[in-house]
Amino acid sequence: MDENTRRVVLLNQHQLPIIKLFALEGAQQSPLNPDRGDNKNIYRHGEFIYKVYFYDELLENQQKLLNIANEQAVLKLAAEKESQHLANLKGVYLGRNHVAFKLEVFETDFRDYLEEVRDVRHLPKIFQMIVLGLRELHDLRYVHRDLKPDNIMINLKPLKVVLIDFERASLRT
Ligand SMILES: Nc1ncnc2c1ncn2[C@@H]1O[C@H](COP(=O)(O)OP(=O)(O)OP(=O)(O)O)[C@@H](O)[C@H]1O
Ligand SMILES: [Mg+2]
Repeated sequence: MDENTRRVVLLNQHQLPIIKLFALEGAQQSPLNPDRGDNKNIYRHGEFIYKVYFYDELLENQQKLLNIANEQAVLKLAAEKESQHLANLKGVYLGRNHVAFKLEVFETDFRDYLEEVRDVRHLPKIFQMIVLGLRELHDLRYVHRDLKPDNIMINLKPLKVVLIDFERASLRT
């Protein structure tokens, strides 16, 4: 991590203890250079997708802190359990203005699939894999609470479906 990034990260560790947790768990320097003005939170870089949270938005918004904690908790559990139908966390990265979660890239989400591809022969398998994803999530003792077509990612060849976006997920009691 370069000196300037390290300084910013240390500063944020006081205000955002979750950043300290990520640093302790071995987060690496982010390869991204995102700008909050980009108005997006998903960045493609090399072979992977990165879901980005800006420190500023985490400081401004308590809800965002809950969101990032839920997202990281489930993505990490899914990686530990090698869940087949849940997005798996590939790494946590800290930058000057953001933290990023590295994820496998998928071709399309189910919303675009329904609008653009919509091959009815795929649908039974897709629904089966959605149910398998929900079962894996429930076995991790979480409920999704935001299941919708844009939170379901699909690769077509070979067909693979994973659930994403665990920001609203909550532990089952
Ligand atoms: N691993 C991935 N591969 C390809 N595209 C992805 C991946 N993860 C997310 N996306 C795309 O980015 C979109 C938003 O991702 P996600 O649901 O994780 O973030 P979000 O915070 O809910 O964003 P929004 O509030 O805009 O839905 C997805 O609907 C999908 O189109
Ligand atoms: Mg979403």
